[in-house]
Amino acid sequence: MYGRVIGVTVLGVGGHPVTVEAFVGRGLPSLTVTGLPGAAVQDARDRIRPAVEHAELEWPLRRVVVNLAPGNLRKEGAGLDLPIAVSVLVATRQVPPKAAAGHVFYGEVSLKGEVLPTPGVISVAIAAARRGLRGVIVPVANAVEAAQVAGLAVTGVASIQEVVGFLRGTWRPPEIGTLVSQRVAAGSADLSEVRGQDEARRALEVAAAGGHNLLMVGSPGAGKTMLARRLPTILPDLTREEALEATQLHSVAELLAGRGLLRERPFRAPHHSVSTAGLLGGGSTVLRPGEASLAHRGVLFLDELTEFRRDAIEALRQPLEDGRIVVTRAGGSVSFPARFTLVAAANPCPCGFSGDPQRSCRCRPDQVDRYRQKLSGPLLDRIDLRLTIPRLTKDELLGASAGESSAVIRDRVIEARDRQRRRYSALGITCNAHLPGPIARREARLCPDAERLLGRAVDHMALTGRGFDRVIKVARTVADLAGADRVSEHHVAEALSYRTAFEQDQGLARAG
Ligand SMILES: Nc1ncnc2c1ncn2[C@@H]1O[C@H](COP(=O)(O)OP(=O)(O)OP(=O)(O)O)[C@@H](O)[C@H]1O
Ligand SMILES: [Mg+2]
Ligand SMILES: [Zn+2]
Repeated sequence: MYGRVIGVTVLGVGGHPVTVEAFVGRGLPSLTVTGLPGAAVQDARDRIRPAVEHAELEWPLRRVVVNLAPGNLRKEGAGLDLPIAVSVLVATRQVPPKAAAGHVFYGEVSLKGEVLPTPGVISVAIAAARRGLRGVIVPVANAVEAAQVAGLAVTGVASIQEVVGFLRGTWRPPEIGTLVSQRVAAGSADLSEVRGQDEARRALEVAAAGGHNLLMVGSPGAGKTMLARRLPTILPDLTREEALEATQLHSVAELLAGRGLLRERPFRAPHHSVSTAGLLGGGSTVLRPGEASLAHRGVLFLDELTEFRRDAIEALRQPLEDGRIVVTRAGGSVSFPARFTLVAAANPCPCGFSGDPQRSCRCRPDQVDRYRQKLSGPLLDRIDLRLTIPRLTKDELLGASAGESSAVIRDRVIEARDRQRRRYSALGITCNAHLPGPIARREARLCPDAERLLGRAVDHMALTGRGFDRVIKVARTVADLAGADRVSEHHVAEALSYRTAFEQDQGLARAG
């Protein structure tokens, strides 16, 4: 007796179709799974028989061999439980083979025959649609997720009994519309709540407009955390393509919580005790994306940057450079997208008050030096905007007026981003921060006086090659915010002003 159904295995965030074939033949009752099953798939052997029996179906008291094809593809995760169970039900004709054809089955199965929430469903749906299959049968808890993919019939099931009922035509699934969970209203944080701090607010705007990474250094209470948390409020909405990418990452990390599609830009703020695997991705049985990937298309906020493990910080260089992270372990490697805007905050010294006008620093110079050395040059090199933020006194706070609202700033950001997208459409780049150096120099279109100011900065401040490119990219963003075709002297001067924190070449700030 023979049965065949289609399942999917999710490796990283990619769904790969798997043909699941069941052979039921003579021999002592047993279940063997062949075709490179990972540990989680091997585990399925012990779960599936009780699950089928619990659903008041028959498990054949014979030798059962399930083969997973293609044989050279690793099979991970518990999502193959359901297709394995259904392949046996097809082989024993408890389910009509025709009814199962053309569907993809995916879901973890419990000993009692329940179909449990399973990570990666949106990736399964994307893979099924790409193959031109007509429908997916997935855990009801993840059905809304699958329904985001156009042109696919989605059936949400809670048990093996429901799957069988559906295939026999005796049970109908609930309407997907009724499963959509109510979104909790997002927090009402707004940049207008930040008083004064005009320079920092402006730096956030520049970061948002050009996709630049940002470091804020300042004493405790200066408002670094408050400012950083408001960056998402001035970023444009996710495009549909970006939303699908971010949703896949949240799905495999089991963080979608019943939502279909991620609509807000991600904002991830891992604690400084996070492990390298937690930040970059990893895991012992299934490779999961880390915080840097969960921040894909959004913001990764590292508060108290100097407190993070040095190796974790160092490892961030790869995604900052490539927008991807390759996670490797014994069974192979997967690559997760990780294109985020990094926002970091730090105190200027261990006590926090170096440079503060009201309180004096109690650190020894060597302590301050060691503290600053914790931030490696290579990481700092990838942060375009580095800002010192003053702590405002109570009187200054009360006296300062409320600034522009996030909505007003966001409109400018959207316009500046549109200009960049049009300019770089042939390059496949969306914003200034991602321009390769030589192209940045060409695309910046500097006025002669802007060139002269840059030349002076190179001469007097020993601006490195990377530093030079960074200033040009930031100046280009400042010009884009102003709607200017060419970069002029005051755009460069503003770009040079965002280099006041943790600089080796401190004099630079005075160049303008
Ligand atoms: N410019 C400001 N406008 C309004 N409120 C402010 C401002 N600066 C600070 N505050 C108030 O001070 C509180 C502390 O700010 P925040 O936590 O952002 O400081 P921080 O720089 O992150 O300090 P730490 O180094 O201790 O983490 C904020 O929650 C806010 O209530
Ligand atoms: Mg803080
Ligand atoms: Zn100090």
